[in-house]
Amino acid sequence: MTVEGRPLDPIVCDRFHPCVHRDGSMDHTTAMSMAIEAACGVRRFTSPNPWVGAVVLSAQGDLIATGATEPAGGAHAEVVALRSAGEEARGGTIVATLEPCSHHGRTPPCVDAIIAAGVARVVVGITDPDPRVAGTGLAALRQAGIEVVEGVLADRVTDQLTPYLHHRRTGRPYVVCKVAASLDGGTAAPDGSSRWITGPSARTDVHRLRAESDAILVGAGTVRADDPALTVRHVEGRDPVRIVLGHAPPEARVRPCTEWTEDLDALLDRLGGQGVLQLLVEGGATVVRSFHDAGLIDLYVIYLAPAFFGGAGARPLLGLATAATIDDIWRGRFVGVERVGDDLRIELVPQTSPHRDKRRTQPTGAPP
Ligand SMILES: NC(=O)c1ccc[n+]([C@@H]2O[C@H](COP(=O)([O-])OP(=O)(O)OC[C@H]3O[C@@H](n4cnc5c(N)ncnc54)[C@H](OP(=O)(O)O)[C@@H]3O)[C@@H](O)[C@H]2O)c1
Repeated sequence: MTVEGRPLDPIVCDRFHPCVHRDGSMDHTTAMSMAIEAACGVRRFTSPNPWVGAVVLSAQGDLIATGATEPAGGAHAEVVALRSAGEEARGGTIVATLEPCSHHGRTPPCVDAIIAAGVARVVVGITDPDPRVAGTGLAALRQAGIEVVEGVLADRVTDQLTPYLHHRRTGRPYVVCKVAASLDGGTAAPDGSSRWITGPSARTDVHRLRAESDAILVGAGTVRADDPALTVRHVEGRDPVRIVLGHAPPEARVRPCTEWTEDLDALLDRLGGQGVLQLLVEGGATVVRSFHDAGLIDLYVIYLAPAFFGGAGARPLLGLATAATIDDIWRGRFVGVERVGDDLRIELVPQTSPHRDKRRTQPTGAPP
């Protein structure tokens, strides 16, 4: 299956099993599943805009068209789907993962296109916390006499749009920390070598993570040890903006890059203001510890290889101080575990996050 000619990503999309009634019509939940899948196909290409999917059903409930957000500056998902549906949208339903926008950005408001298309009903997964929308899109549709249904598959849409929602609510990027480790928690041998702990499938998965991120960060220690390029090579996608904590040698492959020597909170504020929705922290252990200790990591993605370093000389997973007693150990919550090639990919989130608690009282808008 493709969306607008683009193959869907088999790693990140759930398999879609359409539930179509005998008369050929489709229910809202099934249509929303299709919209979520459409959005999934453009996940790496829309930032700083959200990756949204939309489906148009005819007045009889038949599937007419599917659309997904075009790269920034292009049409939003609803407009893509309505263009494809043409006159058949009249009297029908548009199902969109996110509330349609009601403001002039780089493109005209989606609600205007929806009203002009003459649809009778709009079904959305979630409202858009961007203060330029924040319920005004749905209000404008209702005012135009269009029936609005909210909250269809809201949890799945919220999961799918987590980095975008986090950015709009906090003004900062969603921080994902990636570490590859042996089963006994080693991330590099005593001589500094760490390539490769995990296998090719896990490394491809890391490139997908990079492509989903607007910025990527490593410490000067990793630049000195590995001289990484930090580009996207094994999947289709854009290279993230590269940041080194500390200084990179003049000839380092990571250049051009930003060399950051100030406070991490200030860095996240600056990146958020630049429209960075997701920052990928790729290590090493000293940098991961700085982010972890400051409560700045929103999602840990840990690839575990079926291997042991042994002894006590390997670089640790996070480089944390030892908890003095069992009551002091840091605890998270697993949100995903899967096998990737010969390795395991484990996702966990903190049980509490000072970073999240720091949310601004007013939600933030998109960068200019
Ligand atoms: N397995 C994995 O997933 C993985 C991933 C990445 C790296 N590695 C391995 O990890 C090793 C490097 O790790 P590392 O712990 O030695 O170095 P690192 O975490 O990559 O970098 C630490 C350095 O960053 C600079 N820095 C500037 N501001 C900082 C801040 N706020 N917090 C922390 N650091 C800051 C400092 O450089 P200055 O000393 O210049 O001031 C510091 O020494 C290498 O052997 C590499 O192969 C493994």
